[in-house]
Amino acid sequence: MLIRYFTAVVLIVFSGLANAAEPSLFIKTPGKDTVVPAAAIFKGISIPDDAAIHFQALDNFSAPIEKATLMNSAGDGATAYIAIEKPDEKWPVIQMGHEQYSAAPFYLVWKDTTKSRISTELWVMQLAGFSIDRPFSELYPNVVPKKNISNADAVMRGFKIFKVNCFSCHTINREGSGKIGPDLNVPYNPTEYMHEKYLRIFIRSPKSLRHWDKERMVGFPSAVIRDDELNDLISYLKYMSGRKV
Ligand code: HEC
Repeated sequence: MLIRYFTAVVLIVFSGLANAAEPSLFIKTPGKDTVVPAAAIFKGISIPDDAAIHFQALDNFSAPIEKATLMNSAGDGATAYIAIEKPDEKWPVIQMGHEQYSAAPFYLVWKDTTKSRISTELWVMQLAGFSIDRPFSELYPNVVPKKNISNADAVMRGFKIFKVNCFSCHTINREGSGKIGPDLNVPYNPTEYMHEKYLRIFIRSPKSLRHWDKERMVGFPSAVIRDDELNDLISYLKYMSGRKV
């Protein structure tokens, strides 16, 4: 895995690329900032288009971001910049509920968001860095549905639900780093030994099916996984029961 974390020291190297932006350019940034185009910090490294890129914030918040989104510099869509707090011009403190914090040291900000939609999560405060992995399909070939399954297929949709919600704790075919819960395909897939009705109840609320003090699986209410998404997830699990390794 290639990891590119940048720190203040590293950014000084890039500071030649930085320029002072008009405050109005980035409506969500706290003040007049020094910004570096995000694409610039990856110059010189070849990153495959389907690489798995994640951003990471200081509080360990991490989420995937598409290469095409992060590194777009063609001007036909929104462009990402990394805003850097200047030592002599501290950003204002932000009040969030009872907590106060600052977006510093780095803040992922976007220009031209009218050209392509950028979700709020992608305005990353307290940015710590990016990690770049090989594509998921290369890292975990036996977790991904086969190539003949199209993106529109329920199995593929269910795989995406699995990846986001379950893969952090469960392996499939013993592949993956989440080992808090049991493997969900070998030797048996839960769709083989659990009645579907109870499997659904379990995913929604493990406690409501069985209870002991040390249970660690969280429930997934419909606010997190909608009913149609749960159907897709079960389609994926059923499909994988026919793809054991
Ligand atoms: C926070 C970690 C975690 C997440 C996330 C998680 N699980 Fe679990 N899961 C567990 C653990 C641990 C167990 C073992 C029972 C327990 O401790 O609750 C388990 C048990 C299960 C079981 C029962 C297996 C058996 O044989 O008893 C199923 C089925 C299951 N998980 C499916 C899922 C699905 C589907 C998702 C995603 C929607 C998911 N889990 C997300 C941790 C997790």
